[in-house]
Amino acid sequence: MERTLVLIKPDGVQRQLVGQIVARFEQKGLKIVAMKFIKMSKDLAERHYAIHKGKSFYDDLVSFITSGPIVAMVLEGRLAVKQTRNLMGATRPEEAAPGSIRGDLSVYTGQNLVHGSDSDENAQIEIANFFTPAELVEYDLANKDWIG
Ligand code: RTP
Ligand code: MG
Repeated sequence: MERTLVLIKPDGVQRQLVGQIVARFEQKGLKIVAMKFIKMSKDLAERHYAIHKGKSFYDDLVSFITSGPIVAMVLEGRLAVKQTRNLMGATRPEEAAPGSIRGDLSVYTGQNLVHGSDSDENAQIEIANFFTPAELVEYDLANKDWIG
């Protein structure tokens, strides 16, 4: 089964939307295999967003993601990367479909509540940035045969 890294960014924590956001992923049928509440260091932020280094928004992005606590989690399920990106909605909230997390709950690209890995390859790299192998918990959901 595919795994992906999801972050609830500092705006999600400050706006007390953690429960709502986690619920959307759970309701979809994705399984939580790891979760932690942390304040990202500058070093971790720069590693996580290395692909954006040099872009106009990079400094603001690193400063924002380190500005307060976040929730980091690993979700597992069929096509977890794509399912998660669909639930999140487009990067720009004004383009994010109603029903998506960003479409329903945010208005500003710089504070768009969630991060999700954009490919299986990047998911594996990002998961390793945040979690040790021992922190990824192996278990079955009781309803797994009813999710597919
Ligand atoms: P994320 O990595 O956070 O899941 O978001 P994403 O894939 O949808 O978007 P990405 O292109 O990877 O951009 C990363 C984050 O940088 C901020 N951004 N600002 N001002 C801008 O034009 C701009 N473009 C991107 C957003 O916070 C975006 O989520
Ligand atoms: Mg991205």
